Parts: sequence; structure tokens; C-alpha cells
Amino acid sequence: MLENKVAIVTGGSEGIGFGIASALASKGTRVYLVARTLEKLEKAKERITQQGGKVDIKSADITNIESMKEIVENVYRDNGRLDIFVNNAGAWKGQSLDTPFDDIWKLVEFDMKAPYQLAHYLSSRFRSEKENTLKILTVSSQAALQVMDIGLGYGPAKMGLTAGLFHLENELRIEIEGKIDEEIKRGLLKEEEKEQRKEELSRVKFYRLYPNTVATEKMMEAIRKNQVQNPVSLEAVVNTAIDLLLDKTPTRDVRIGYYPGKGIVRTYLPSNPDDFYHPAKITEEIVDPDFIPEDLLK
Ligand SMILES: NC(=O)c1ccc[n+]([C@@H]2O[C@H](COP(=O)([O-])OP(=O)(O)OC[C@H]3O[C@@H](n4cnc5c(N)ncnc54)[C@H](OP(=O)(O)O)[C@@H]3O)[C@@H](O)[C@H]2O)c1
Repeated sequence: MLENKVAIVTGGSEGIGFGIASALASKGTRVYLVARTLEKLEKAKERITQQGGKVDIKSADITNIESMKEIVENVYRDNGRLDIFVNNAGAWKGQSLDTPFDDIWKLVEFDMKAPYQLAHYLSSRFRSEKENTLKILTVSSQAALQVMDIGLGYGPAKMGLTAGLFHLENELRIEIEGKIDEEIKRGLLKEEEKEQRKEELSRVKFYRLYPNTVATEKMMEAIRKNQVQNPVSLEAVVNTAIDLLLDKTPTRDVRIGYYPGKGIVRTYLPSNPDDFYHPAKITEEIVDPDFIPEDLLK
């Protein structure tokens, strides 16, 4: 189901973005990796090509919306479609009361404004597509779900990003429902055809992934020095991203993490802002009870 699809992955040259990109490529998706540093992009391209994947690279900064729009338009023009946008690029930085506010705001602009602006642009751009559905998978963080220490910039950015994406989804829903009501009023649609029509008109779909600490290459040093605890494997995060994109998860909002005594757990959060924090509606799945973080260091 991912064969012959076209995906753009921001922050695709390393870490979680690279993991998702190479998994998509291994399943037959043509992937476009976006990041700033050409050298790292070239290395990533080589690795995916060696695995037999179809891959292209584009150097850009996600905070420059005009260059991101140009990339999207070029990819769409070259392929006649865009199926997946992995809205992944972001970075954690510890920020406390001693951090100058301008630095905090810069991080909010990077971790919230840029991915939100991208999702906003993509929603407007692709909402009236006739054939393809664009799936936007945003890589958020556990910081969107809980208050974390030294998180003055990162925390509000990730929390705000989730809120912003819910608002975008809501606007798309209102627009679709308005169109359906109009079609019913004009006798073009029957009441019982509503659900199917809704599906036809839903050309942009949102997916959000909330990882706890992940054992990416960059994080390994901090893990080794025990500066961060309980990392989850990159593989488990990537598998969850792929299951989200394949609509195999019960909800479109999934937290993934390692919990001592339990193993690697997926937490399915309701993809509806009214129920998002409703404990009775949140479910869990233990995906790897045998995972031991220490094995990552071997
Ligand atoms: N790793 C974790 O433990 C963890 C946990 C929870 C959530 N997350 C989230 O997962 C996402 C990916 O994190 P990661 O740890 O995998 O990151 P990473 O290993 O640091 O990789 C970051 C990627 O983003 C690119 N990038 C950075 N700034 C960019 C910019 N301004 N424009 C375009 N590309 C840019 C980097 O390449 P260039 O530097 O060359 O641009 C690189 O490809 C982030 O949103 C992060 O908040 C990570």
C-alpha cells in the first residue's frame, strides 16, 4: 500500500526522519529528503539507494516557507502526486528561566511555527485534490503531552503544534460538512451517502506521533552517559510511524515509549480534541515486552 507513493520527509537526513524515510523507501515509496546540510543529505541518499530505494534530496530550511512551497510544487509537478508529508524536523533544547526570552521564542518558531505553517499550507493546497489523499504525519514529542523540566520553549511549541493541527483538521471538517449539506439541499446527495461522500472529500489526513526519548544516533552519547533514561528503540518508533500511515492504529495520535517493567508501549490517544485527554478513552498496547534499553549499548 506504500508502493509507488511519493513522500517528502523533513529532517530526513538523520534520526527519526531518516528512519521513517528509509522504511518508506523499502516499501516502494519514492522519498524526498529535506534538510539543510547537503553533505548529510548525500550520505542519507547513498544509504537508501544502496538498500534499493528511490530517493531524492532537497536542501532547505523548514523555517523558510517559500522554499518549502517550491519543493512541494516541484515534487508534485514531477510525480503528479504527493501522498505523504512527514512533518518531522525539529529539535529539543533545554531552556529555563535563565534562558533569554528571544532564544525561547526562536525555538517556538522552529518547533511550532514552521511545522504548523507547513501543515497549514499543505491543507489549503491539497484539500480540493480530486484523486490523491495527502497524509501529513507530524512527529511531535512526549513534551506535547506532559510538562517537562527545562522545557520553556520546546514544551509550548510541541503542545501548541498539536492544538494547531487539531484546529486545521476542524476547519477542514467544517468545510466538508458545509459542502455535503449544500449537496443534500440541492438534491445531489442522499442522507445515506453522506459518510462515503465525506471520505471522498477528505483529501488531507492528519497523523501525530509522540515519541518519548528515542535511541537515535545523536542521542546515543547522552544515553551512554545516563543523561537521559528509558530510551525507546528507533525501530519501534519507525514501525509505529508506518502503521499510522497504513491506518493500522486504532487512533491517529500515538505515543511510543519504553516503560520499565512493561517494555515498549504504544499509547493510543483519541484523535479528537474533546476526548484527547480523556483517560477512559486512552488505550495502551505493549508492542515489545522483552525490550531492554541496555541492549542498545552493546
Ligand atoms: N530523538 C528523540 O529522542 C526525540 C524524542 C521525541 C521527539 N523527537 C522529535 O522528533 C523529530 C526528529 O528528531 P531527531 O531527534 O530525529 O532529530 P535529529 O537526529 O537531530 O535530526 C534532525 C534532522 O532535521 C534536520 N533539520 C534540523 N533543522 C532543520 C531545519 N531548520 N530545516 C530543515 N531541516 C532541519 C537535520 O538536518 P540539518 O541539520 O542538516 O538541517 C536532520 O536531518 C523532532 O521533531 C523532535 O522534536 C525526538
